[in-house]
Amino acid sequence: MGIYGEDANFSRNAEHIPVLCGEVVSSLNCRQKGVFVDCTFGAGGHSKMILESNKGNRVIALDKDATAVESGKTGMSVYHERFILVKAGFETLEDVLNSLKIEQVNGLIFDLGMSSIQLDGASRGFSFRFDSELDMRFDKNQGATAADFLNNASENELCRVFREYGEEERTLAVARAITARRKSTPLRTTRDLVLLIERIKGPKRNKIHPATKVFQALRIYVNNELENLKIGLMQAVSRLKTGGRLAVISYHSLEDRIVKQYFSHLARKCVCPPGQPICTCNKKQDVIVFKLVRPSSEEIKSNPRSRSAKLRIAEKINNTGGENVA
Ligand SMILES: C[S@@+](CC[C@H](N)C(=O)[O-])C[C@H]1O[C@@H](n2cnc3c(N)ncnc32)[C@H](O)[C@@H]1O
Repeated sequence: MGIYGEDANFSRNAEHIPVLCGEVVSSLNCRQKGVFVDCTFGAGGHSKMILESNKGNRVIALDKDATAVESGKTGMSVYHERFILVKAGFETLEDVLNSLKIEQVNGLIFDLGMSSIQLDGASRGFSFRFDSELDMRFDKNQGATAADFLNNASENELCRVFREYGEEERTLAVARAITARRKSTPLRTTRDLVLLIERIKGPKRNKIHPATKVFQALRIYVNNELENLKIGLMQAVSRLKTGGRLAVISYHSLEDRIVKQYFSHLARKCVCPPGQPICTCNKKQDVIVFKLVRPSSEEIKSNPRSRSAKLRIAEKINNTGGENVA
């Protein structure tokens, strides 16, 4: 698994530099007028590029983070009715488009994970560089916080989350230390968790901080990121016009695997068991998939956060709904 988050992000100020911008604009064909969806608005870098690519373009943007939506509404007001920003998760994309009476769109972009503004914000709990409440929710009004999980989950459940979403090697030792510690005092802050992990794994010795994997696992779990991605991709494909494009930028292998496998499933003409003489599955090829795009060495140099980015693009060739993601 690629390391995601702090160690891949050397930005130390609250500015988010959009990743693979030129590549997103050309892959979505947004120089041709159309309606596009930015499923992860963040600081609006991709939305702006799409709106600037053709003065007739419209963008519907979604983000779960109330702060991102609030500042986006002010910052993007110059685009007037060409731009609509909704505080919503992309797993509710169909509801958002239904409420706006939009049936199909020309292209969608997902730029997964968190923005530098969230990571560098000292109050959200995403970063082990700042001491703050262990929250980690993109939407502060939805679901349990990282602290709720750490203070209530069983040892087995802690192990499963650290292993599945972080590929943490010292899963059991970390989980045991958490359950022992919370008997006397609940974990409340990022500092509480960092100190506990450092006691087990030792202090930072190389580029990777010992808390990186546990922090990644917690963020993915708290925000139900992998399940939401599957739902979001399926809804995106179902709302894409024939000839429209879906672009997804991921930053670690758990997300990328989901995107890659879903695209390759949609690109298959038949899903019958191998060796079956006659096709009975009636599957049609739904998309064509383009070659994986990675950032150039110049982009990585000017924006180190981009270094683990993988951009996958699919074009819809068959006007069917998005099939379920396995
Ligand atoms: C990497 S940032 C996007 C940056 C943006 N492309 C830009 O150029 O500024 C990812 C954003 O997605 C948002 N996000 C994460 N999960 C989401 C979800 N399920 N639905 C909507 N937004 C989500 C986060 O709050 C964050 O603002």
